[in-house]
Amino acid sequence: MSGAREDFTRHLAQTSAAPIGLEIVRAEGAWIYAADGRRYLDFIAGIGVSALGHGHPAVRAAIAEQARRHLHVMVYGEYVIAAQARLAARIAELLPPALGRVYFTNSGAEAIEGALKTARKHTGREGFVAFDGAYHGDTMGALALMGNAAFRAPFGTLPGPVRHLPYDDAAALTAIDHSVAAVVVEPVQAEGGVRIPSREFMMALRERCDRSGAILIFDEVLTGLGRTGRLFAMEHSGVVPDLVVLAKALGGGLPLGAFAGRDELMAKLAHDPPLGHITTFGGHPLSCAAGLAALEVIVAERLWERAERVGVALRARLAGLVGTEIVALRGIGLLAGLEFAQAATAHRFVAATIARGVIINWTLNADRVVRMAPPLTIAETEVDFALAAMTDALVGLRRGA
Ligand SMILES: Cc1ncc(COP(=O)(O)O)c(C=O)c1O
Repeated sequence: MSGAREDFTRHLAQTSAAPIGLEIVRAEGAWIYAADGRRYLDFIAGIGVSALGHGHPAVRAAIAEQARRHLHVMVYGEYVIAAQARLAARIAELLPPALGRVYFTNSGAEAIEGALKTARKHTGREGFVAFDGAYHGDTMGALALMGNAAFRAPFGTLPGPVRHLPYDDAAALTAIDHSVAAVVVEPVQAEGGVRIPSREFMMALRERCDRSGAILIFDEVLTGLGRTGRLFAMEHSGVVPDLVVLAKALGGGLPLGAFAGRDELMAKLAHDPPLGHITTFGGHPLSCAAGLAALEVIVAERLWERAERVGVALRARLAGLVGTEIVALRGIGLLAGLEFAQAATAHRFVAATIARGVIINWTLNADRVVRMAPPLTIAETEVDFALAAMTDALVGLRRGA
């Protein structure tokens, strides 16, 4: 066993009984190079983080330049840090005008927490509404929103009250009443099994929040910045939330999250008490510099259009796998899910595909669904490689290999 593997096994807290355990040597483009001498096509991109693939030269250059200027100073809003201010301005420019003010965090879950706190302060209410199948992160508040009781139950009393409603069911939205501070929703559920709601549902949600005075929070942690074939997934429905939460691709491969909203809402962060929501590292200059460089590439190359085009081609190919074991295919842009008849087969398929050099994974809240989220820059020849591996994996499963 290599030194790193031994340390991993003995000293790192494990998050599952069976980690994939690839020992990473380096990563370049859509490929991860492992200590076993093999390379693996990264068809999951750190679950949507590496939108430009690994080691994009513009991101590397921005990190080097920022490292030369300065690293951490004091982040939480006291100093003018150019990388942070410029990224906020660029995000505000790209989002609808009603989402023009940005607060940076370290992660998606932390941004969800900030958005929940902002909604409580603004409304003076305590209740939250989330949806079956939802995933918003693993801190206590975000976990309370998780649309899967099995993940919540072991942790006892979580912040709330939280009411979970069925996803994509407009009739159920009557439960959003004057006790609700915020409704949190993913415009496409990824961990919930790649579920794409109807436009009518999203519009009904907006209408119900307007009527009840609840703050509508879109979790675009995974869907944001091109993944679904639009720069933001909210563009599919045209519904603008009161707060949007971003992370994953936002830092260009470095840790960064954010939530954004209108001035009046975001002003709640500065009063009663002042400094009532702060962070030591959120919006770190290095992460913001990397994120800005990545965002400029996404915008200059209109990578959401590429995601749309390559996504169509990917789904056309994946459709050929649907049959006995795989019962449904869902997808939007470069987010795709294969639904298996049996969870055990889905898990074996993931392992067999990784063994053939392509990294995919299953979803937390829908264990029969295998999910793909390759870099937005993935080449069509690389899609061919992934399809060949998945096809072969399926054939192998049928043979019992
Ligand atoms: C939709 C969504 N929201 C929130 C999160 C939590 O983000 P983080 O892991 O950065 O806390 C995730 C992470 O997978 C996510 O997919």
